[in-house]
Amino acid sequence: MNIQNVLKGITIAIDGPSGAGKSTVAKLVARRLGYTYIDTGAMYRATAWKGNVFGLTLDNEQAWVDLAKTIRIAFPPDKDGGQRVLVDGMDITTQIRTPLITQLSSPVSAIPGVRRALVSLQQAMGRNGGVVMEGRDIGTVVFPNAELKIFIYASESTRAERRWKECQARGEDITLEQVLDSQRERDKRDSERADSPLKPAPESIMIDSDRLSIQVVVDKILALCKDKGAL
Ligand code: DC
Repeated sequence: MNIQNVLKGITIAIDGPSGAGKSTVAKLVARRLGYTYIDTGAMYRATAWKGNVFGLTLDNEQAWVDLAKTIRIAFPPDKDGGQRVLVDGMDITTQIRTPLITQLSSPVSAIPGVRRALVSLQQAMGRNGGVVMEGRDIGTVVFPNAELKIFIYASESTRAERRWKECQARGEDITLEQVLDSQRERDKRDSERADSPLKPAPESIMIDSDRLSIQVVVDKILALCKDKGAL
């Protein structure tokens, strides 16, 4: 046990592509440790949602940057132990999960000025430690000194199937092929963009979620937290 790490809490960075199971795992780890959970993808989605409301087009990069610099994003807890997403005080938890915002958030997240603004918000949110932050560049850019870095991945087909089931549960009319196509396009853009592409930090612990249950992945991460003296 490391008294400093127990009292203050460590920083846990969880990165990986969409549909690999990051969010489910990150939330469970945060709950078990009593840490703050931060979904940085929701911040890019919230920015895309607000820009879309204002009718911004992707060629007007400066307008997106200005918007990202002034947006107010909050994650208050809801009564079921989950989290809401507020933009400038308005609850947009469900609005940021539509196919339109899912698609739009990818090119918006590739604008360097948008990333700079949101990364600095993320750094402020996690400044005091005791945080599980998930995204694409947490271990490489946002918290390169995080005590624990995890990279969760899974095969393309497993990820698409998971996403498709989520879409079906929300009543969206979309085929598995459409989900797969959109995932491929986003994966390509997220991992090939010039600024902070999706990639594991050299010291990341790689976890293949194809072959492991959620609980096994969570237990593995909690064991690593123990090694770091956080438990
Ligand atoms: O994790 P997600 O699908 O909710 O993320 C939405 C988009 O934001 C996705 O295209 C990747 C991007 N993103 C990013 O570039 N960096 C992050 N730290 C988190 C998400």
